[in-house]
Amino acid sequence: MTEVIPAPRSVVAGSGEVRLTAHSQVYAGTETEGVGHWLRTVLRQATGLPLREGRELDDTEGDGIGLQLDPELGPEEYRLVSDWTGVLIEGGSEAGVFWGAQTLRQLLGPDVYRRAPLSRDRTWAAPHVTIEDAPRFRWRGLMLDVARHFMPKDGVLRYLDLMAAHKLNVFHFHLTDDQGWRVEIRRHPRLTETGSWRARTKFGHRASPLWVEKPHGGYYTQDDIREIVAYAADRHITVVPEIDLPGHSQAAIAAYPELGNTDIIDTTALSVWDNWGISANVLAPTDNTLRFYEGVFEEILGLFPSEFVHVGGDECLKDQWRRSPAAQARIKELGLADEDGLQSWFIGHFAKWLSARGRRLIGWDEILDGGLAEGAAVSSWRGYQGGIAAARAGHDVVLCPEQRVYLDHRQDGGADEPVPIGYVRTLEDVYRFEPVPPELTSQEAGHVLGTQANVWTEVMEDHARVDYQTFPRLAAFAEVAWSALPAPGERDFAEFERRMAVHYRRLDALGVAYRPPTGPLPWQQRPGVPGRPIEGPPPNR
Ligand code: ACM
Repeated sequence: MTEVIPAPRSVVAGSGEVRLTAHSQVYAGTETEGVGHWLRTVLRQATGLPLREGRELDDTEGDGIGLQLDPELGPEEYRLVSDWTGVLIEGGSEAGVFWGAQTLRQLLGPDVYRRAPLSRDRTWAAPHVTIEDAPRFRWRGLMLDVARHFMPKDGVLRYLDLMAAHKLNVFHFHLTDDQGWRVEIRRHPRLTETGSWRARTKFGHRASPLWVEKPHGGYYTQDDIREIVAYAADRHITVVPEIDLPGHSQAAIAAYPELGNTDIIDTTALSVWDNWGISANVLAPTDNTLRFYEGVFEEILGLFPSEFVHVGGDECLKDQWRRSPAAQARIKELGLADEDGLQSWFIGHFAKWLSARGRRLIGWDEILDGGLAEGAAVSSWRGYQGGIAAARAGHDVVLCPEQRVYLDHRQDGGADEPVPIGYVRTLEDVYRFEPVPPELTSQEAGHVLGTQANVWTEVMEDHARVDYQTFPRLAAFAEVAWSALPAPGERDFAEFERRMAVHYRRLDALGVAYRPPTGPLPWQQRPGVPGRPIEGPPPNR
């Protein structure tokens, strides 16, 4: 069985198989011990086999698994050879070996994704095969919005496992928004005491008349975050935290009213927002706000070792700044042209602040307005234009256009799609997404770090709804992010669907509540809960 997803660069099938037995050993060479530990753990759980640790590669002869580095290979590249001597996975780094181990798991059959054996007397075998493989992009991301609906820690760890199974390696953690602040900040405790919950929640799109009349909330303690980051690192996933500013900040202002535009509104009357949309309540452009968020980011840097730190920067409504005498005075004092200048002053401040601490700022494509500091990178979400402009200006960019890879958008045009939002984006549409804009020269295209799928959770009230929107489309997205485009051009969707037939069984074993190809199951529907579908195809660019 070599229905591997995402598709490897090359697969050459042999004719026999390697059987795992009670005598099989797993040998992990220098600097691959972490993968060896992970692989033995997941395979022992699923198979019930002892899979003892081998002391040398020869211990794996015939029926074992060997892991080692091969310095000739690229950092995430791997080679998997399954033949009469056993299975050998070699990688250019431990990450490469880890991706090879994920491929081996797929070769062993869907039940290997279970956490306990279904029976003790079945055989476990990997077909003889030689696989050579490496990712197309170094940034293969998933953004999860835990602000609109909180996902408890176990759910996040589960998503990290699901990402790893699909060879995705950047978890963009959207931790703050108008509707909730989800990370403990020791020096500003009210961010979570007040900011992490709301009294009630809109059920459906903002135009829906329905409410869930119960408190919703939750946050990650700093130890929870340390655990999540370490769990991700064990799976060769980088966690990029997002603290959204200067817009999408109502939860922070509700906790600390002095952060808002107090000369024109009574910010002490604000609460964490219970509706969807873009709040008009944005941060005041004061030194106090800068110092407050420097304190937030100091703790964030202590928790998240990633090179990139996301500062949001999207959808900052400027109305309060237009009306606020204090904001207008600030524009004059700073010599800025207008309110857009204030936005870029905010972002520029944190770009410099992060770079002085050896990190790099990344933000949504609005941060390009008014010019962007050198070294900063862009998440291009309003189509491809931000990505093109960023790459042409020499900025690194991650392509995540909303018309293509926003997984909150509905996956079918049918009437029983739950709370339908946006354009119809089918499994095939996501599969056919091409992250690199053809307008770019090859030098400009070198600024494309990669791509990510974004999961905004306004209408995803629980883990089953997140699964439904995310899967199976994340499997198609993983192939976009990992697998080279066939030369020339078009991806073969029929061939992908053939592999998906097996992949659905892996998702079943993993307990993923995906959307079945035939449409939502009765309990996956939300009859009578209004969404906001957009008719017609999405714009091309
Ligand atoms: C976004 O969707 N507002 C980045």
